[in-house]
Amino acid sequence: MVNVTPSVQDALKGTRVDEDATTATDDIAITVPTAAASSGPQDEPSGDDLVFDVSELSVFYGDFRAVRDVNMKIRRNEITAMIGPSGCGKSTVLRSFNRMNDLIPTARVAGNLLYRGVDLYDERVDPVEVRRRIGMVFQKPNPFPKSIYDNVAYGPRVAGRKKGLDEVVESSLRKAALWDEVKDRLQDSAIGLSGGQQQRLSIARAIAVDPEVLLMDEPCSALDPIATARIEELMAEIKAEYTILIVTHNMQQAARVSDRTAFFSVELDEANDRRTGLLVEYTDTAKLFSNPDDQRTENYITGRFG
Ligand SMILES: Nc1ncnc2c1ncn2[C@@H]1O[C@H](COP(=O)(O)OP(=O)(O)OP(=O)(O)O)[C@@H](O)[C@H]1O
Ligand SMILES: [Mg+2]
Repeated sequence: MVNVTPSVQDALKGTRVDEDATTATDDIAITVPTAAASSGPQDEPSGDDLVFDVSELSVFYGDFRAVRDVNMKIRRNEITAMIGPSGCGKSTVLRSFNRMNDLIPTARVAGNLLYRGVDLYDERVDPVEVRRRIGMVFQKPNPFPKSIYDNVAYGPRVAGRKKGLDEVVESSLRKAALWDEVKDRLQDSAIGLSGGQQQRLSIARAIAVDPEVLLMDEPCSALDPIATARIEELMAEIKAEYTILIVTHNMQQAARVSDRTAFFSVELDEANDRRTGLLVEYTDTAKLFSNPDDQRTENYITGRFG
């Protein structure tokens, strides 16, 4: 059992923005300092640099172990890519980082997933607060059939914020590199935006509730190369403020945008005669694509995966 300090635990039990608080997040005990701590790329991250510490994680759907052997330390202000063949558990693992799997009745995790030292699956942790701190951007942009403004203001409103919404909407759209394109049509329906604009709107919506982490599941797979390049530039810009995990089928994209890459594969699980996913190798992106340690990684990145 992980030793959870009461103050950190309280913070994840839920926070609501009230009218006059500057922002509720100012009161949260999990410290996310501004100055980068010292660990270099080859060092083990620790302290403020360590956002997620995942060890021996497996995720099951009913009796089926969909993915196993997930050991990852996720560093602050880095982009971590997750790659691997279809069905290896990338989305499953990504969803476990903000308890999105809770919404699937048969899903269950085993092992340890610590966020800032707190066991995310501790029964006292509020999954709603988890998802505010750890936002998600999906493969298909999913704007509400509401105005652009209301799409971005939705999350802050649900969290109880009534004042300062204009500022939140503007700053979120600016960070998502969409402001200039929509500032004169904020009351227009979000459905009228292009696919690439809708995906940036999804990012603005995620950013609007002031998360620390953004999880992205194939955010560019429905976009053309220009819109994709735009999202990649945006990721590079915002990583100074956020920690990003991205699932992608595009190895060039992983190589271009990420600092570290996790390669997942699938193997026959003799226990139940089904193919189960596993984390094979997790290292610096440059190393993974140039000089991987594992033959299975080598086979995949050179296109010899069978
Ligand atoms: N809701 C679910 N119920 C039962 N099994 C599931 C569910 N979601 C995923 N799985 C199974 O878990 C395994 C991993 O699926 P997952 O969607 O995580 O893979 P993926 O790596 O994201 O694949 P893709 O690249 O095709 O998106 C697969 O065997 C899949 O069939
Ligand atoms: Mg997937």
